[in-house]
Amino acid sequence: MSSTDLDNKAKSILIENDQGGYTIPTKGLYPYQWNWDSVFVALGFDTFDQNRAWREIEMLFEGQWRDGMVPHILFRKDDPSYFPGPSVWGTDGGPIPSSGHSQPPVAASVVQTLVEHDRTGTAQERAAALLPKLMDWHRWYLAYRDPKNLGVIAVIHPWESGRDNLPDWDDALRAVEVKDIAPYERKDTSHVDPAMRPHKEDYDRYLSIVAACRNVGWDPARVAETCPFFVADPGVTFIFLRANRDLLKLAERLGRNREAEEIRGWIARMEKGAKTLWHEGLKAHVAFDERSGKLSDGISSASFLAPYAGIADDTTLSALQAHFDRIASKVRYLMPSYDPDHKGYEPLRYWRGPVWAMINYMIAQGFAEAGDTARAERLRADTARLIETGGFAEYFSPETGAGAGGGAFSWTSAIWLSWASPSHAKQAA
Ligand code: DGY
Repeated sequence: MSSTDLDNKAKSILIENDQGGYTIPTKGLYPYQWNWDSVFVALGFDTFDQNRAWREIEMLFEGQWRDGMVPHILFRKDDPSYFPGPSVWGTDGGPIPSSGHSQPPVAASVVQTLVEHDRTGTAQERAAALLPKLMDWHRWYLAYRDPKNLGVIAVIHPWESGRDNLPDWDDALRAVEVKDIAPYERKDTSHVDPAMRPHKEDYDRYLSIVAACRNVGWDPARVAETCPFFVADPGVTFIFLRANRDLLKLAERLGRNREAEEIRGWIARMEKGAKTLWHEGLKAHVAFDERSGKLSDGISSASFLAPYAGIADDTTLSALQAHFDRIASKVRYLMPSYDPDHKGYEPLRYWRGPVWAMINYMIAQGFAEAGDTARAERLRADTARLIETGGFAEYFSPETGAGAGGGAFSWTSAIWLSWASPSHAKQAA
């Protein structure tokens, strides 16, 4: 397929997955609105229908909880093809049935991008309407995912990280007692090869964490205090720090001085806190289990998001460049979601090795901003080759380039349109 054919195919995937203002990640496997999927999808719509791009994010915020949280899934209609559905979550925090925790807060960054690209003349107004909602969500993150004021953001569930079965969670997840779960039937493995999905032992614990939080009524302070899983995540921490920098730009552009001042305080807190995640032996930022006090022992693709978060001092950048080149000598396509030299690495199992297009987009953005345009371009070229050979898959083998997980995937299409496609790269140059 030529790149123009792929551009057209990517657009048609977004249009087919559109449910009337919001987009599902893919048919079958994920039939609802997912938080960070939707936000990346807005970048895809931004290339051909900016009004629709804004609508995607506005509809996500329609599900915001009273306490400020923006849930990871909005169950706008019942769909028996997905498990666990709304009755398992048992939440009551917002206007739309939803899951009970959040997902990486990329929204402020994408809103800032939409404002910069605006051709409609309505962006300032739409961004101004979203600003207080973004502020509330970010305040919620600081209050309930960093209750000890460490300057790092914890996740209460592997699903909240968006990187479900990452080896970083293995020890903390194993420590979760399996209890309070009714017999259940997974649906994901009827849509996708089980070898590409988490194990049953993982699912038992995913559901046990949901049960523990449901037992405290999803009260955010009680969840933070009692949830059996509470791990500071370099992925969410770096995405949140970046989102705060973009939110600050937005507040300044809109002349919202009080908000800008508040956000500057958040950035200072996070910049200091990020050091907590630095693993001196590995020379990279890793996860930190706040319950056990242990750092994880491997490098994930989120370790490479430090420059995206604006952490690009010489020590960090040169260590990441060395890891980048080492990993590039082991696999054909970058950036695997986990270090191929680690025992937990599996090239086709979801977040234990596969390459994800939207992570490459964020890593490349950070490297380019830090002046490393060569490695940023390598990531773009690899992402383009993966899509050219593996199609618009959910994720890809870093070794063979084979597409894996769900097909006709929305965020892969969006990242193609907004960044990886050669036609976009030419326009941007
Ligand atoms: C799933 O169902 O696998 C999702 O990743 C949870 O968000």
